[in-house]
Amino acid sequence: MLKIAPSILSADFANLGAEIERIQAAGADLIHVDVMDGHFVPNITIGPLVVSAIKPKAKLPIDVHLMISEPDRYLDAFKDAGADIITVHAEAVHHLHRTLSYIRSLGVKAGVALNPSTPESAVDYVLEQVDMIVVMTVNPGFGGQSYIHAMDEKIKRIRQKIDEKGLQIDIEVDGGVNEKTISRIIEAGANVVVAGSAFFGSQDPNAFVQSLRRHERP
Ligand code: DX5
Ligand code: ZN
Repeated sequence: MLKIAPSILSADFANLGAEIERIQAAGADLIHVDVMDGHFVPNITIGPLVVSAIKPKAKLPIDVHLMISEPDRYLDAFKDAGADIITVHAEAVHHLHRTLSYIRSLGVKAGVALNPSTPESAVDYVLEQVDMIVVMTVNPGFGGQSYIHAMDEKIKRIRQKIDEKGLQIDIEVDGGVNEKTISRIIEAGANVVVAGSAFFGSQDPNAFVQSLRRHERP
């Protein structure tokens, strides 16, 4: 079952409440929140305050993607703000096993994201601690970038690892997802896709969500 996670990075921040409703009315599955600190990535976005502001309107799980250095310092704050999934970058933490275990201990799903240049072996020894692996298919920091085709192989290899071990781990693809790239992403083995610019730039978000679902595996 394909899960679609529109990213509010491309939403109209002056009308965030209405944008959350737009995501929900379109039949999406998750609300993806991109947190950037101007240090781990060049851009700065939002913090826990915005997550707590959207929480009362959110009927869907809130999928928080932390593109920040030292994410351990903010895990409690994002949990308290209402995050349902918290993803940290493997490149941003020293003790990934500890960080993922801590996220789970908060009663939140734990995700790990890999930058395009990070090999998939970075998750080999944390597969038992993780609920979702996020394959970055652009260099994180900005919406609207082009999908890096070399990432197909990484998605496939991660899917193979998970299936071989019989684990239930979601593979989320983040960056450059649109009606043109979706088929190769699903073919490679992802089951969750983030869509920022393609979702919010669409004239008809409902039709956009349905068009992604048409590529779902039978
Ligand atoms: C990139 C963010 C993405 C971004 C995707 O740094 O992590 O979630 O919003 O945007 P699009 O879908 O426009 O590539
Ligand atoms: Zn993201």
